[in-house]
Amino acid sequence: MSEQPPRPPSPPAASSAAATPPQTIGEVLHKTQRFFAERGLDSPRADALLLIGHALGLERMQLLLHHDRPLTESELVAVREGVRRRARREPTHLIIGERGFYTVDLKVVPGVLLPRPDTERLVEAALQWLPKDAPAFVADIGCGSGAIGLTLAHERPQLRVYCVDLAAEALACTKENVARLGLAERVAVLRGDLLTPIPAERQIDVVVSNPPYIPSADIAGLDPEVRDFEPHLALDGGADGLGVYRRLLPLAAGRAREAVLVEIGWDQGAAVCALAAEAGLQGVELLKDYGGRDRVVRGWVRGATWRPTPPAPDEAPTARAPSLEPEAAPVDPAEGALTLELFHAEHDPEIDALPVFVRD
Ligand SMILES: C[S@@+](CC[C@H](N)C(=O)[O-])C[C@H]1O[C@@H](n2cnc3c(N)ncnc32)[C@H](O)[C@@H]1O
Repeated sequence: MSEQPPRPPSPPAASSAAATPPQTIGEVLHKTQRFFAERGLDSPRADALLLIGHALGLERMQLLLHHDRPLTESELVAVREGVRRRARREPTHLIIGERGFYTVDLKVVPGVLLPRPDTERLVEAALQWLPKDAPAFVADIGCGSGAIGLTLAHERPQLRVYCVDLAAEALACTKENVARLGLAERVAVLRGDLLTPIPAERQIDVVVSNPPYIPSADIAGLDPEVRDFEPHLALDGGADGLGVYRRLLPLAAGRAREAVLVEIGWDQGAAVCALAAEAGLQGVELLKDYGGRDRVVRGWVRGATWRPTPPAPDEAPTARAPSLEPEAAPVDPAEGALTLELFHAEHDPEIDALPVFVRD
């Protein structure tokens, strides 16, 4: 019997890994896209590009230009983590921690509603109402990430905004976005129910809100991205979805000096217009989003002096709203002034921490 030659030792794990050619950006993109498509995700390519770009710190265009660049092992680990989370239906922007909205990039975190493109219609409608170069005061009720109020403040340098929410997560997120956008001097972030945390002496010209408006019974049937990863406090509008409008519209119509604008569900136009009229709002109007669905109800307050100016006919509707002046000059500065004394009369640390908004 002939003697067997000794078997060569098995290669160490490292050299076997080295023998496998590293995967390129293009290969990983292709595999991820295919994996997401097999999982039934709606936008497999967009999701793959966003998640891989986030893991590698590269923009979409860089990914495409450098598709043959090999990934390091640590980059692959980072990509896999994002892919794993998305496969469990966590929303892509929650994984990335950021969402572009109108003209700003907002930080987003678990426990806070991801800003939606539909809500940009409300921002646009409000910008048509707000003076371009004069001070004005806005309350964003149910601010979430701060999407509406902070975008308005970003677009209108003389605007002061109260951002209100019940959820601590939302307020923390809004505060981070205030810092990120450099708006601390002009934005107050308050916790409480609807308009109650804004001291009665404080002037509010316009109330904007995207309240929870989904009927409670519909929540179980929502996409898992929404149902399982977004806060139900941000979604649930009670039995018929109109519960918050019933409370908010009369309060807002009683506090705002100029106008109230709310986002609505596509099938709530008639009901919310009726509630707005009942609350005493004038010239109640239903606006559609760019998908042609009812999206915003707005009306002005009795005695208001501003009116929205429609976009010029040749101006295509874009995220960048036209700058429109109010019909009348803003209110006499002295009339709207808030004094330091009034402000301090509250003796509430949260209120004391508010910037003192005074019409210049
Ligand atoms: C649909 S989300 C809108 C978030 C954000 N404004 C946006 O458009 O992305 C509704 C928000 O209202 C808040 N909210 C719900 N009920 C509220 C109440 N009674 N008072 C204040 N905020 C409330 C929720 O916590 C949530 O952040």
